[in-house]
Amino acid sequence: MVRRPGLSLLLLVTLTSAAACRRAADKPAPIPSAAPGSSAATAADPPGTYLGRTLATPMSYRGADWLDREDRETTEQPEHVLDVLGLRDGWTVADVGAGSGYFTVRMARRVAPHGRVLATDLQPEMLALLGDKVKAAKLTNVVPVLATESDAKLPRGQLDLVLMVDVYHELPRPVETLAQIRAALRADGRLALVEYRAEDPKVQIKEEHKMTLPQIQKELGANGFVFKASDESLPQQRIVTFGVAP
Ligand SMILES: C[S@@+](CC[C@H](N)C(=O)[O-])C[C@H]1O[C@@H](n2cnc3c(N)ncnc32)[C@H](O)[C@@H]1O
Repeated sequence: MVRRPGLSLLLLVTLTSAAACRRAADKPAPIPSAAPGSSAATAADPPGTYLGRTLATPMSYRGADWLDREDRETTEQPEHVLDVLGLRDGWTVADVGAGSGYFTVRMARRVAPHGRVLATDLQPEMLALLGDKVKAAKLTNVVPVLATESDAKLPRGQLDLVLMVDVYHELPRPVETLAQIRAALRADGRLALVEYRAEDPKVQIKEEHKMTLPQIQKELGANGFVFKASDESLPQQRIVTFGVAP
Protein backbone atom coordinates (compact mmCIF):
# COMPACT_ATOMS: atom_id res chain seq x y z
CA MET A 1 0.00 0.00 0.00
CA VAL A 2 1.50 3.31 -1.08
CA ARG A 3 0.35 6.36 0.80
CA ARG A 4 0.65 9.87 -0.56
CA PRO A 5 1.60 12.22 2.26
CA GLY A 6 -0.29 15.48 2.67
CA LEU A 7 1.38 18.65 1.52
CA SER A 8 1.60 20.16 4.95
CA LEU A 9 4.31 18.88 7.24
CA LEU A 10 5.79 20.39 10.31
CA LEU A 11 9.03 22.20 9.68
CA LEU A 12 10.02 24.18 12.72
CA VAL A 13 13.69 24.56 11.99
CA THR A 14 15.59 23.93 8.80
CA LEU A 15 19.18 24.50 7.89
CA THR A 16 20.12 27.22 5.51
CA SER A 17 22.51 24.80 3.82
CA ALA A 18 19.63 22.50 2.97
CA ALA A 19 17.26 24.88 1.25
CA ALA A 20 16.49 22.35 -1.46
CA CYS A 21 15.15 19.99 1.17
CA ARG A 22 12.68 22.38 2.71
CA ARG A 23 8.94 21.93 2.81
CA ALA A 24 6.29 24.40 3.92
CA ALA A 25 4.71 23.41 7.18
CA ASP A 26 1.69 23.90 9.35
CA LYS A 27 2.08 24.50 13.05
CA PRO A 28 0.63 21.47 14.86
CA ALA A 29 -1.33 21.42 18.05
CA PRO A 30 1.01 21.10 21.02
CA ILE A 31 1.98 17.55 21.86
CA PRO A 32 1.72 16.52 25.52
CA SER A 33 5.00 16.08 27.34
CA ALA A 34 4.04 12.58 28.41
CA ALA A 35 1.50 10.08 27.13
CA PRO A 36 -1.55 9.54 29.36
CA GLY A 37 -0.75 6.70 31.72
CA SER A 38 2.92 6.77 30.86
CA SER A 39 5.60 6.12 33.41
CA ALA A 40 7.19 9.53 33.71
CA ALA A 41 10.55 9.93 35.36
CA THR A 42 9.81 10.44 39.06
CA ALA A 43 11.59 10.50 42.39
CA ALA A 44 11.88 6.74 41.88
CA ASP A 45 14.26 7.50 38.99
CA PRO A 46 17.40 9.15 40.33
CA PRO A 47 18.80 11.86 38.03
CA GLY A 48 20.42 10.41 34.94
CA THR A 49 18.48 7.14 35.15
CA TYR A 50 15.20 5.73 33.86
CA LEU A 51 13.53 2.55 35.16
CA GLY A 52 16.82 1.25 36.52
CA ARG A 53 18.94 2.16 33.47
CA THR A 54 21.70 4.77 33.38
CA LEU A 55 21.11 7.19 30.50
CA ALA A 56 24.08 7.52 28.13
CA THR A 57 25.47 10.92 27.17
CA PRO A 58 24.49 11.98 23.62
CA MET A 59 27.34 11.47 21.18
CA SER A 60 29.07 14.70 20.16
CA TYR A 61 29.28 15.86 16.54
CA ARG A 62 33.06 15.84 17.07
CA GLY A 63 32.89 12.07 16.70
CA ALA A 64 30.75 12.17 13.56
CA ASP A 65 33.46 10.51 11.42
CA TRP A 66 32.75 7.32 13.34
CA LEU A 67 29.18 7.31 12.01
CA ASP A 68 30.52 7.16 8.44
CA ARG A 69 33.31 4.65 9.08
CA GLU A 70 34.12 2.31 6.22
CA ASP A 71 33.24 -0.98 7.86
CA ARG A 72 29.80 0.16 8.97
CA GLU A 73 28.11 -1.34 5.94
CA THR A 74 29.41 -4.75 6.92
CA THR A 75 28.94 -4.48 10.66
CA GLU A 76 25.58 -2.68 10.75
CA GLN A 77 24.12 -3.58 7.34
CA PRO A 78 21.95 -0.49 6.85
CA GLU A 79 20.20 -1.75 3.72
CA HIS A 80 19.29 -4.98 5.51
CA VAL A 81 17.83 -2.94 8.39
CA LEU A 82 15.62 -1.05 5.93
CA ASP A 83 14.62 -4.34 4.25
CA VAL A 84 13.52 -5.70 7.63
CA LEU A 85 11.46 -2.55 8.23
CA GLY A 86 9.96 -2.67 4.73
CA LEU A 87 10.19 1.03 3.84
CA ARG A 88 8.18 1.86 0.73
CA ASP A 89 7.58 4.64 -1.74
CA GLY A 90 5.10 7.14 -0.32
CA TRP A 91 5.82 6.65 3.38
CA THR A 92 6.44 9.58 5.67
CA VAL A 93 9.20 8.51 8.04
CA ALA A 94 11.40 10.10 10.69
CA ASP A 95 15.05 9.39 11.40
CA VAL A 96 15.17 10.59 15.00
CA GLY A 97 18.74 11.29 16.12
CA ALA A 98 19.84 11.19 12.48
CA GLY A 99 23.40 12.31 13.21
CA SER A 100 25.32 12.91 9.99
CA GLY A 101 22.56 11.26 7.92
CA TYR A 102 24.01 7.78 7.39
CA PHE A 103 20.55 6.21 7.52
CA THR A 104 18.68 9.30 6.33
CA VAL A 105 19.93 9.16 2.73
CA ARG A 106 19.17 5.45 2.48
CA MET A 107 15.68 5.98 3.91
CA ALA A 108 15.06 8.87 1.51
CA ARG A 109 15.87 6.69 -1.51
CA ARG A 110 13.48 3.99 -0.26
CA VAL A 111 10.47 6.28 0.22
CA ALA A 112 11.04 8.35 -2.97
CA PRO A 113 9.56 9.73 -5.08
CA HIS A 114 6.36 10.28 -3.11
CA GLY A 115 7.50 9.93 0.49
CA ARG A 116 9.78 11.97 2.70
CA VAL A 117 12.11 11.75 5.66
CA LEU A 118 12.13 14.08 8.65
CA ALA A 119 15.70 13.92 9.93
CA THR A 120 16.00 15.22 13.48
CA ASP A 121 18.94 15.86 15.73
CA LEU A 122 19.83 17.93 18.80
CA GLN A 123 23.05 19.21 17.28
CA PRO A 124 23.06 21.74 14.44
CA GLU A 125 26.54 20.56 13.52
CA MET A 126 25.19 17.07 12.84
CA LEU A 127 22.41 18.54 10.70
CA ALA A 128 24.96 20.56 8.74
CA LEU A 129 26.84 17.35 7.90
CA LEU A 130 23.53 15.70 7.04
CA GLY A 131 22.58 18.61 4.77
CA ASP A 132 25.85 18.23 2.85
CA LYS A 133 25.24 14.53 2.40
CA VAL A 134 21.66 15.04 1.21
CA LYS A 135 22.79 17.69 -1.26
CA ALA A 136 25.58 15.50 -2.62
CA ALA A 137 23.09 12.67 -3.11
CA LYS A 138 20.71 15.10 -4.91
CA LEU A 139 17.83 14.10 -2.66
CA THR A 140 14.88 16.48 -2.41
CA ASN A 141 12.70 14.59 0.07
CA VAL A 142 14.59 15.16 3.32
CA VAL A 143 13.50 17.70 5.91
CA PRO A 144 16.18 18.46 8.53
CA VAL A 145 14.69 19.30 11.94
CA LEU A 146 16.58 20.74 14.89
CA ALA A 147 14.97 19.03 17.88
CA THR A 148 15.49 19.78 21.56
CA GLU A 149 15.72 17.43 24.52
CA SER A 150 12.15 18.26 25.47
CA ASP A 151 10.64 18.77 22.00
CA ALA A 152 11.04 16.21 19.24
CA LYS A 153 9.44 18.67 16.77
CA LEU A 154 7.46 16.07 14.90
CA PRO A 155 4.06 16.57 13.22
CA ARG A 156 1.07 14.95 14.86
CA GLY A 157 -0.37 11.70 13.46
CA GLN A 158 1.50 11.66 10.14
CA LEU A 159 4.36 9.19 10.43
CA ASP A 160 4.38 5.63 9.11
CA LEU A 161 7.67 4.83 10.79
CA VAL A 162 10.08 6.39 13.28
CA LEU A 163 13.58 4.93 13.25
CA MET A 164 16.17 5.48 15.98
CA VAL A 165 19.52 3.86 15.23
CA ASP A 166 21.83 3.82 18.23
CA VAL A 167 19.86 6.71 19.74
CA TYR A 168 17.24 5.54 22.22
CA HIS A 169 19.75 4.70 24.98
CA GLU A 170 21.07 8.26 24.87
CA LEU A 171 17.78 10.21 24.85
CA PRO A 172 18.17 12.72 27.68
CA ARG A 173 14.37 12.72 28.31
CA PRO A 174 13.01 9.38 27.13
CA VAL A 175 9.51 9.83 28.56
CA GLU A 176 8.87 13.15 26.82
CA THR A 177 10.43 12.01 23.55
CA LEU A 178 8.45 8.77 23.51
CA ALA A 179 5.19 10.65 24.15
CA GLN A 180 5.91 12.96 21.24
CA ILE A 181 6.87 10.10 18.93
CA ARG A 182 3.70 8.27 19.90
CA ALA A 183 1.63 11.34 19.05
CA ALA A 184 3.46 11.73 15.73
CA LEU A 185 2.77 8.18 14.53
CA ARG A 186 -0.29 7.19 12.54
CA ALA A 187 -2.56 4.66 14.27
CA ASP A 188 -0.83 1.85 12.35
CA GLY A 189 2.63 3.44 12.48
CA ARG A 190 5.69 1.78 14.01
CA LEU A 191 8.65 2.81 16.11
CA ALA A 192 11.88 0.91 15.42
CA LEU A 193 14.92 0.94 17.70
CA VAL A 194 18.28 -0.41 16.64
CA GLU A 195 20.32 -1.06 19.77
CA TYR A 196 23.47 -3.04 20.62
CA ARG A 197 22.67 -6.27 22.48
CA ALA A 198 23.67 -5.98 26.14
CA GLU A 199 23.15 -9.73 26.62
CA ASP A 200 25.93 -10.54 24.13
CA PRO A 201 29.46 -10.71 25.67
CA LYS A 202 30.93 -10.16 22.19
CA VAL A 203 29.51 -6.61 22.10
CA GLN A 204 32.42 -4.75 23.61
CA ILE A 205 31.04 -1.26 24.06
CA LYS A 206 30.31 0.77 27.17
CA GLU A 207 27.52 -0.55 29.36
CA GLU A 208 25.27 2.53 28.92
CA HIS A 209 25.48 2.26 25.13
CA LYS A 210 23.79 -1.13 24.89
CA MET A 211 20.44 -2.47 26.14
CA THR A 212 18.82 -5.80 26.96
CA LEU A 213 15.58 -6.68 25.21
CA PRO A 214 13.61 -6.89 28.51
CA GLN A 215 14.78 -3.38 29.46
CA ILE A 216 13.71 -2.01 26.05
CA GLN A 217 10.33 -3.71 26.40
CA LYS A 218 9.90 -2.41 29.94
CA GLU A 219 10.59 1.20 28.99
CA LEU A 220 8.56 1.24 25.80
CA GLY A 221 5.70 -0.69 27.38
CA ALA A 222 5.53 1.92 30.15
CA ASN A 223 5.07 4.64 27.55
CA GLY A 224 2.17 3.43 25.44
CA PHE A 225 3.95 1.18 22.93
CA VAL A 226 3.15 -2.43 22.11
CA PHE A 227 6.01 -4.81 21.32
CA LYS A 228 5.83 -6.28 17.83
CA ALA A 229 9.11 -8.04 17.07
CA SER A 230 12.82 -8.23 17.70
CA ASP A 231 14.94 -9.07 14.68
CA GLU A 232 18.25 -10.60 15.77
CA SER A 233 19.85 -11.02 12.34
CA LEU A 234 22.50 -8.27 12.69
CA PRO A 235 25.95 -9.19 14.04
CA GLN A 236 25.80 -7.04 17.18
CA GLN A 237 22.52 -5.14 17.27
CA ARG A 238 18.83 -5.93 17.28
CA ILE A 239 15.99 -4.21 15.47
CA VAL A 240 13.07 -3.88 17.86
CA THR A 241 9.70 -2.73 16.53
CA PHE A 242 6.69 -1.40 18.41
CA GLY A 243 3.19 -0.31 17.51
CA VAL A 244 1.12 2.32 19.27
CA ALA A 245 -1.12 1.06 22.08
CA PRO A 246 -4.80 1.72 21.30
C1 LIG B 1 25.19 7.68 18.10
S1 LIG B 1 24.49 8.96 17.14
C2 LIG B 1 23.64 8.02 15.89
C3 LIG B 1 23.35 8.81 14.64
C4 LIG B 1 22.59 8.06 13.54
N1 LIG B 1 21.33 7.54 14.01
C5 LIG B 1 23.41 6.96 12.95
O1 LIG B 1 23.12 5.79 13.24
O2 LIG B 1 24.34 7.25 12.19
C6 LIG B 1 23.16 9.56 18.14
C7 LIG B 1 22.57 10.89 17.69
O3 LIG B 1 21.34 11.09 18.39
C8 LIG B 1 21.19 12.46 18.66
N2 LIG B 1 20.20 12.62 19.72
C9 LIG B 1 20.27 12.26 21.03
N3 LIG B 1 19.13 12.58 21.67
C10 LIG B 1 18.30 13.13 20.75
C11 LIG B 1 16.98 13.65 20.80
N4 LIG B 1 16.25 13.68 21.93
N5 LIG B 1 16.43 14.14 19.65
C12 LIG B 1 17.15 14.14 18.51
N6 LIG B 1 18.41 13.65 18.40
C13 LIG B 1 18.98 13.16 19.51
C14 LIG B 1 22.61 12.90 19.02
O4 LIG B 1 22.75 14.29 18.90
C15 LIG B 1 23.44 12.10 18.01
O5 LIG B 1 23.67 12.83 16.84
